[in-house]
Amino acid sequence: MSPNTDPTAASSVTVLGLGPMGRALAGAFLDAGLRTVVWNRTPGRDDELVARGAQRAMTAEEAVAASPLTVVCVVNYDASDAILRDGPVTSALKGRTVVNLTADTPDRARDTAAWASEHGVDYLDGAIMTPTTTIGTPHAVLIHSGPQPLYARHRPVLDVLGGTHTHLGEDIGRAAAYDVALLDIFWTAMSGYMHAVAIAKAEGISATELLPFAQGIGAILPPVFADTAAEIDNNTHSGEGNPITSAVSSMAHIVHASETHGIDASIMRAAESLARKAIDLNHPTDGFTRVADVLSRG
Ligand SMILES: NC(=O)c1ccc[n+]([C@@H]2O[C@H](COP(=O)([O-])OP(=O)(O)OC[C@H]3O[C@@H](n4cnc5c(N)ncnc54)[C@H](OP(=O)(O)O)[C@@H]3O)[C@@H](O)[C@H]2O)c1
Repeated sequence: MSPNTDPTAASSVTVLGLGPMGRALAGAFLDAGLRTVVWNRTPGRDDELVARGAQRAMTAEEAVAASPLTVVCVVNYDASDAILRDGPVTSALKGRTVVNLTADTPDRARDTAAWASEHGVDYLDGAIMTPTTTIGTPHAVLIHSGPQPLYARHRPVLDVLGGTHTHLGEDIGRAAAYDVALLDIFWTAMSGYMHAVAIAKAEGISATELLPFAQGIGAILPPVFADTAAEIDNNTHSGEGNPITSAVSSMAHIVHASETHGIDASIMRAAESLARKAIDLNHPTDGFTRVADVLSRG
């Protein structure tokens, strides 16, 4: 292996934050043979990692001073700020690189990048799109943004985390923007699924009985995304064969069925009201994707 692609050519990597994801990241670095320094606000989360060869740092300052690259993965940017923007830690980071894999908003990523620049810290932002069990396997999906040369320099170490890594651009907020948009799909869909199982249960249908059909509905979505992306970008929204009026009718049935059973229908009511707004704005024959345009208009 050339020094440019051998992750162990890096002298050391530090992981700050040892929740389930931070522990998975540190474990993958250890598995790759990297000297791995770990720190967590609450002590005791590193025992297993230390048993596997990780070096325990007693303070965040000591942790970041031990490696040219620090990976942070905590609950949100309030937490990562609380760690990184502490005077001695900030001083120790000068001339080193932080890759922040904590999830939060694009604005918070940009704010942290500005702070890093003021303090001579090289900064990359990123997000992890898959569960802890995928880390270090081909199934991990990570997205990154920030200066390309900096990303290229640390790529061999980041690649150790497995799977697919995509650098989305120099705008530091780009990874968080993708993350927020993708999690919007996930949490909206999960909320819909929880609502669906509540209606099913009220009708005497278990989640297990619903499962094969629920999976079938889920499988319809990827082709719908593929078929409609260009329409959304071009703001055309053809409703041929499936106008938004039909969607509203279907949604009204869901609201009615929920409320018959005393189940909160606010999720579906919100979706229905957006679709009705599109109709009221004179788009009754358009497809459901007109809702994206209505949302963008504010
Ligand atoms: N778990 C997953 O499957 C998954 C998947 C994709 C992305 N992610 C992202 O990965 C990040 C970490 O997730 P996680 O699963 O490890 O668990 P988490 O519950 O989101 O984060 C726990 C970590 O945050 C630390 N923390 C919380 N508040 C803090 C504060 N004020 N100061 C310092 N540290 C603080 C905790 O330290 P203490 O132990 O001291 O409380 C712990 O290390 C999150 O942004 C999450 O969205 C997770």
